[in-house]
Formats: sequence, C-alpha cells, structure tokens
Amino acid sequence: MTSLELPSPYRLRELDCVDSTNAEAKRLAETGCEDFTLVWAKRQTAGRGRRGREWISGDGNLFFSIVLRLPYPMAAMTQLSFVAANAVADAISVAAPKGAFVNVKWPNDVLLEGKKIAGILLEGESDPKTNGFKWLVVGVGVNIASHPPAEDTETPATSLAGAGVSGAGLDVEALLDALAKRFLAGLVTWRNLGFGPIRRHWLMRAKGLGGAVTVRLPRETLHGLFAALDENGALVLHMDDQPNRLITAGDVFIGNPGSKLI
Ligand code: BTN
Repeated sequence: MTSLELPSPYRLRELDCVDSTNAEAKRLAETGCEDFTLVWAKRQTAGRGRRGREWISGDGNLFFSIVLRLPYPMAAMTQLSFVAANAVADAISVAAPKGAFVNVKWPNDVLLEGKKIAGILLEGESDPKTNGFKWLVVGVGVNIASHPPAEDTETPATSLAGAGVSGAGLDVEALLDALAKRFLAGLVTWRNLGFGPIRRHWLMRAKGLGGAVTVRLPRETLHGLFAALDENGALVLHMDDQPNRLITAGDVFIGNPGSKLI
C-alpha cells in the first residue's frame, strides 16, 4: 500500500491490477460510491482509449479515474476534459526535462516534444430528470516508464523515460499526487468562474492553432485550418470552400494532408 495521502475530498482506492480504472470507477459509481473516489491501479489489463480504442498500459505508467457525483450539466463532459488536460500538461511540464515542449492537442491529448504522452477519457451516466449527468468518470493515463512503439499507434507516442527522465523523476505516486491536486484546483476554478479561464489556459499550450489540420469524423474527413476554440470547447474549422464547421467530436491530425501527422 502507498503512503500517498491525497487532499480532501479525494477518496483513494488503490489496486494492484484491474481491467480498466475507468471500468472500475463506473462500477463503483453505479453502486453509489462517494464523490471524488479516485481509482488508481498499478497495472491495467484492458485499458480503454477514446472512440473504443485500446490504451496500451505498460507497467510503471500511471492509470487512474476520478468519479464525480454532483449533478453536472451536459456541457461538463467537454469542459472537464479541458480541465483534466490542463492539469496533466502542467504536471508533465514540471516532471519533463527542462525546456521540453509540452502541448495540448484537441480535444484532450497531452504531447511532450510533439508526441503523445497522456490521454484522457471521460465517461458519464446521463440523467433524463436533470438533463445532465448523474456521475462522470474522468480517466487519465500517463506514459511514465514506457510508451507503445510507433507501429502500434496511429500517431507517435512518448513517455517521461523516453524523453530522458530517470530515477526519482519516474515516480508514479509523485505524478499522481501533483496531477490530482492540479485537477482539483482546475475544478474549483471551473465551478467558480466557468469555462473561460480553463479555455484560456488550454489555448496557451494548444498545438496547431491557426495551422492546417485534418479532422476525421465517422462519415467524412475534412481538411482546413484550426481557426479557434469556441466558448464551449469546440474546434472551429475554417475551410476555403464552405462555411466554418464546429467540431465537437472526432480525431484531429495536425499538419497538411500528405505530411507526417501528429
Ligand atoms: C485516449 O487518448 O484515447 C484516452 C486514453 C485514456 C486512458 C486512461 S488510462 C486510465 C483510464 N482507464 C482506462 O481504461 N482509460 C483511462
């Protein structure tokens, strides 16, 4: 067991091994666990990524999920993914080698030196009575000790170790501690001041803003410019031949068609 003590109101549930911390957090949420239950597992055997993909969960990496139980409005799903991305990016920029570039990529990937180091998966149970969520699960995976090889991922991945961090710099608990605290601070800001400051913080690190992007949607692939992030967190895509499109879900690749994509 760890000696890690997370600040109130977190309730830490520490596991040696689980299928997926998001799956476990959802099971706990459904059986009425407390708000701010944080499920942390040292190993994950069936880590899940966005859009039904696998999250390759190497040993020595960080996997955790937070259950939020208050009634949250529908917009919270998107907005809290930005709160989480900011927390992850801030914690990684402290842990990364001095001067290394840390960016966020729409909607909520975190990149170290242009390669994906962390992913965030939000899932929720909607409540028809309130038109909001009964609970939300915020799942975070950070590659610390290892990352998947290029042939196993669509875009290049990295880890703290892969970027040259060693020894105490690879401490999983220390990163969980830093990240949980930063997420809590971001959540308080979001509750008190709304999405504005979260959006501005995210934009300071945004990868590809103003540049060419390819957006892959279930039925079409669009090429255009990442013109802006709107006030709800949607990507504003500018295309020469048609009106701007608001992208609220999809895969975004940074770069011109035909170039090496991130
Ligand atoms: C993505 O970029 O596709 C999101 C990846 C999210 C991975 C984390 S690891 C901890 C939590 N448990 C899961 O099964 N997924 C999330």
